[in-house]
Amino acid sequence: MVGSVLMGRMLEENDYDGIEPVFFSTSQAGQAGPDIGKDVPALQDAKDIDALKAMDVIMTCQGGDYTGEVYQPLRDAGWDGYWIDAASKLRMADDSTIVLDPVNRDVIEKNLDRGTKTFCGGNCTVSLMLMGLGGLFEADLIEWMSAMTYQAASGSGAQHMRELLVQMGQLRDTVADQLDTPSSAILDIDRDVTAKMRDPNFPVDQFGYPLAGSALPWIDTLIEETGQSKEEWKAGAESNKILGLDGNPIPMDGLCVRIGSMRCHSQAFTIKLKKNVSIDEIEERIASHNEWAKVVPNNKEDTLKDLTATAVSGTLSIPVGRLRKLAMGDEYLAAYTVGDQLLWGAAEPIRRMLNIVRE
Ligand code: HSE
Repeated sequence: MVGSVLMGRMLEENDYDGIEPVFFSTSQAGQAGPDIGKDVPALQDAKDIDALKAMDVIMTCQGGDYTGEVYQPLRDAGWDGYWIDAASKLRMADDSTIVLDPVNRDVIEKNLDRGTKTFCGGNCTVSLMLMGLGGLFEADLIEWMSAMTYQAASGSGAQHMRELLVQMGQLRDTVADQLDTPSSAILDIDRDVTAKMRDPNFPVDQFGYPLAGSALPWIDTLIEETGQSKEEWKAGAESNKILGLDGNPIPMDGLCVRIGSMRCHSQAFTIKLKKNVSIDEIEERIASHNEWAKVVPNNKEDTLKDLTATAVSGTLSIPVGRLRKLAMGDEYLAAYTVGDQLLWGAAEPIRRMLNIVRE
């Protein structure tokens, strides 16, 4: 899915001009390559180290298992090209850089100068958070931060998106007659919907649990030492690496929750500022940091029009809103952001990295 979005963005931005793309597949070697408006060779075997060695740059959205299987043998075989990866496998390796150039172009440039050849896109919630709040990090205004996430089904994969819709459909279908009868009692409808969700035959093969009509407050595996889920651990670990703050990290932590959104992750932040900064200055710093971050005025109409998955899905826009000081004091800031986890959350940072290595 990330690969399809990536190829779509590369076509939109004419990224195939001036390069000789070769497409690899783990399952369809020998078949025709994709239609990108110019001739491409047949699909090559993605496990063929010799064929991979012939590339100057390898971009992969195949996932961490593939990276684990191929990356080291390729390097061991003497390949010295640029590896640009959407997967998390190599993100925290000492010799890799996590890329999000509107936020860490300086870190990317420094590591390119040092000879780094391995670049990874960040976790989706991390990248979307940093795109939204980049102006506050740049001004060194954040003492600590908590992110509570509302993550879309797409973060788990295409089959999960399908399962969410099937679940939604079954819940609706189970009470279709009552919905068509205005006099039917809502508590009866609710009882039947709940019974359907708890039915052993309710389709949960992908998520393991009902998501439609519910929320799942756990994403990825447990980190034993802290009690965090791995998704929650990434907020602090990856963000500080992206920002180049590994030696003096900003504490960032929170709870990650799966909700019934299709492809947009939303996040609510509690931010402890290093000093009392006006909301005007905060809005100005967020809006001017990059061309995708947009401040949504803190009123009901603009918030519900512009600060939702419905408004953002399929776009590169990163709206940031609900900006207000919390009751805890002038240095405590609330914020909320939404972003498409397949675009800025996955495909866009690595697409842009390809263009940076081409420069
Ligand atoms: N781990 C994320 C999620 C997606 O499960 O939503 C990929 O970064």
